[in-house]
Amino acid sequence: MTHEASTVLSECAHTAGTYRKRDVAIVRGEGVWVYDEAGRKYLDAIGGIGANVLGHRHPYFSTELKSQIDLTLSVPELLCNNTRAEYQSALLSLFPPCYDRVFLCNGGAEANEAALKFARVLSQKTPLVALNFGYHGKTLGALSVTHNPKYREPFEPLYHPVHFLPQGNIERLNEVFDGDPPAAFIFEGVQGEGGVRTPESEYVKTVSHRVQEGGGYVIADEVQCGFGRTGRWWGFEAHGVEPDFVVLGKAIGNGVPLSAVVLHKRVGQLPPLAHTTTFGGNPLSCRAGLATIEVMKQESLVEQAAQRGEQFRHLLREARLSNVRELRGEGLMIGVELKERAGRYLAELQQEGVLALLAGPRVLRALPPYVISEDEMNFLAGRFIEVLRNEKN
Ligand SMILES: Cc1ncc(COP(=O)(O)O)c(C=O)c1O
Repeated sequence: MTHEASTVLSECAHTAGTYRKRDVAIVRGEGVWVYDEAGRKYLDAIGGIGANVLGHRHPYFSTELKSQIDLTLSVPELLCNNTRAEYQSALLSLFPPCYDRVFLCNGGAEANEAALKFARVLSQKTPLVALNFGYHGKTLGALSVTHNPKYREPFEPLYHPVHFLPQGNIERLNEVFDGDPPAAFIFEGVQGEGGVRTPESEYVKTVSHRVQEGGGYVIADEVQCGFGRTGRWWGFEAHGVEPDFVVLGKAIGNGVPLSAVVLHKRVGQLPPLAHTTTFGGNPLSCRAGLATIEVMKQESLVEQAAQRGEQFRHLLREARLSNVRELRGEGLMIGVELKERAGRYLAELQQEGVLALLAGPRVLRALPPYVISEDEMNFLAGRFIEVLRNEKN
């Protein structure tokens, strides 16, 4: 048995079993590339499921993390800390001045959980509104507003009531307001897990206004589509709304667990202890957040995400692949919808040296690091074209 096979077997034997693992054991990374135990090289278009934006082993990022380890790792939020204070300011500086406070935590679902609790306690209302195909995480509250019944049904009864709205459906929206007005409307600027779909701006605007008029709050879940991924800093910008809460995760820590809820000025004072978490705002994560923002600005990575995403789409359009139904997403949030099930192409891509994702049964998804070069994008798009051209129907 190879070393790699033994790592895969060992990990599969000891894991709790909630992941479908691939038969590859990654040992190290460099830029957009990762290497398995046998020394094979892959272009990492999984990118930590959207968390790895600066590539592996970015020198400035690594140096900054090491310097924080030499200072302190553990300063909970009941004490103040210079790195955290600096990070809060740096993060808020990426938003218009009407966003003035931030709650820090560790993962995307947890941050959505916090935002839902904030909306609920401030509005004193119960119902929640979400969009069909939305994904917000798998803790009980976040799961309640996640649309896919496959994830929700084994855990019902969940939070109640939650109204899921089909895109553009005003009748369903009116029905929601026939009952108690909602505490919150949660949406993704570009939906990720649900198939890389961009919601209709007019509908997002209409639902947001109705919910805010009724005394509820609007939550933009930017965990996957935020922080430059779409070639803009924020996914919600395209929809002409000003959310009350902006939820961030994944990319903001470049792989170090870090998430945040950013609060609009119009949001009132939260009750003390309304939500807390031991590791929230820890100095290591905050240092990671600061270094990530610094490199994003220095290397103009938001602009680069827009350009590289356009390059991918251009190359795929030119290839005129007969089994591609639609090219989805924006910037480096890449979805390729097929006319058939997409699963088998993941294995073929892996064989060709590319690690990619699915977003539902028919959509191949790529979330490469923003540092991907023009040549590396040619490689990525070329491998997609090659495997999709060799369809086996
Ligand atoms: C839009 C969105 N929200 C929330 C989450 C949950 O984040 P986490 O897996 O860090 O809990 C995800 C994860 O994919 C996501 O894409």
